[in-house]
Amino acid sequence: MFPRLELLLPLIFCLHSHLVALAWDPDPVQDFCIPNAKGGSNNARAQCKNSTEVTPDDFVFSGVKAPGNFSETGLSAKSVNPATFPGLNTLGMSFVRADLQVGGINAPHFHPRATEIAFVVQGKVYSGFVDSTNRVFAKVIEQGEVMVFPRGLVHFQMNVGESTATVFASFNSQNPGVQKIPSTIFGSGINDELLEKAFGLTLEQIGKMRRRFFPGRKG
Ligand SMILES: *[C@@H]1O[C@H](CO)[C@@H](O)[C@H](O)[C@H]1NC(C)=O
Ligand SMILES: *[C@@H]1O[C@H](CO)[C@@H](O)[C@H](O)[C@H]1NC(C)=O
Repeated sequence: MFPRLELLLPLIFCLHSHLVALAWDPDPVQDFCIPNAKGGSNNARAQCKNSTEVTPDDFVFSGVKAPGNFSETGLSAKSVNPATFPGLNTLGMSFVRADLQVGGINAPHFHPRATEIAFVVQGKVYSGFVDSTNRVFAKVIEQGEVMVFPRGLVHFQMNVGESTATVFASFNSQNPGVQKIPSTIFGSGINDELLEKAFGLTLEQIGKMRRRFFPGRKG
């Protein structure tokens, strides 16, 4: 005899809510947890520094005062996450400073684990995202304005002003993850024939894209 579906439903519902709950960063169980660089001394489970050793400097990060190096597309992005700023650990959020040269772009990409809210510190930035019906929501936003990019949706930015643009953004995950569409598709080693069929490109065109997004591999 198979169990009756009505009896299984509450179980299925519970499993489902459990999975949904896991889609967000877990709630911290202490005020803060600065990772223990020493690896926990005599207690292997002591992953956080003893709070008596924590100082105000553990909660301050000075690495976003200036832009970093600009990429080929005119973007400099400095990520502020627990790897660069351990004070963020377990707090469920992270940050990025992005600078765009005139005409520079932040190529279409998405963050699988976070919604992003971006504030334009200076400049004029064409910003937008695409929803799951392929509708584009895009607009030029200026100094002092914010735009939100819903979790998991492809979004992009381009500096359409006459000077460098600076954007500060925060994420509701300490590890939002990023997948850049061009390199995810052409820089990851997906089978050529599949890409040919998917995009209607010739092998030569695919080779060109590969050389651009996957320089380590002969196209
Ligand atoms: C933290 O350090 C203080 C002072 O050295 C000590 O008394 C306390 O037991 C430590 N706490 C833990 C959880 O190790
Ligand atoms: C920028 O590039 C220089 C020279 O290649 C390098 O020394 C420096 O570490 C880079 N800065 C950042 C923030 O990546």
